Amino acid sequence: TDKYAVIGNPIGHTKSPMIHGSFAQATGQDIDYSAIEGSLERFADDVHAFRKAGGRGMNVTAPFKLQAYALATERLERAELAGATNALKFEGDRILADNFDGLGLTNDIQRNLGFPLEGARMLVLGAGGAVRGALQPFLAQQPAVVVLANRTQAKAVDLAKQFAGHGRVQGCGYGDLAGERFDIVINGTSASLRAELPPLSAQALQGAKLAYELAYGKGLTPFLRLAQNAGVPKLADGVGMLVEQAAEAFLWWRGVRPDTRSLIGRMAIPLV
Ligand code: ATR
Repeated sequence: TDKYAVIGNPIGHTKSPMIHGSFAQATGQDIDYSAIEGSLERFADDVHAFRKAGGRGMNVTAPFKLQAYALATERLERAELAGATNALKFEGDRILADNFDGLGLTNDIQRNLGFPLEGARMLVLGAGGAVRGALQPFLAQQPAVVVLANRTQAKAVDLAKQFAGHGRVQGCGYGDLAGERFDIVINGTSASLRAELPPLSAQALQGAKLAYELAYGKGLTPFLRLAQNAGVPKLADGVGMLVEQAAEAFLWWRGVRPDTRSLIGRMAIPLV
């Protein structure tokens, strides 16, 4: 039995053991996947202890994605561009770091929800770690433009500059969106975790086909309610992203791609 774990703090509500357990059963892989509450002061010690006890890989969640990135001995390109990692693989003394959050989100939007990003006008709210991790996977699909709107405008402008070589991306403040139309609007801020609403005018949602909330399990968040009231026909939360990033990590570790559809269906919480 090969050992894997997710590490975070707090870790109580993690769905990762259930998701990977379900993947393992469906694909006949003999793995044991646990949840570890990492120490805020001695995160590296916890990782090394798990590795030395025979661990083969770890998922990393808040607040450790940057520390795990720093601790890795090799960083794959996706992790490098995100500046953070959500998945580690242990091979002897090597600690490999990748990041599947953005790919999981892109796969969910395109394959599961059926909205191609190619040629789409995308509005992304926020300019923190979650948005940074999604940018390269988005731009690789060649959208018409990705507009980043952030409360602290300078952060969005700066992030857009850093990714300018990967495609059409612009940073701005919420006040700059007047008169703009988008096909897909994604809330990548942490506002929903506190039931807050980014200062987005409903007008920026007019004509959008999909509103996507990165947070999972919060039901109809203020952002999704705003989108619903603006007439956006499709609303989604991050359950698909969560399962898809897990599937990518499972493939990386085990060489087998699990089916995701039925699990997403079982985990989905109605957006009402
Ligand atoms: P994460 O890793 O989840 O992205 P983060 O790096 O702390 O977390 O970034 C949080 C993002 O949510 C930021 O873009 C933040 O805006 P600021 O850069 O202006 O702080 C955004 N955010 C959080 N609460 C918000 C709110 N109530 N309204 C608008 N934006 C909010």
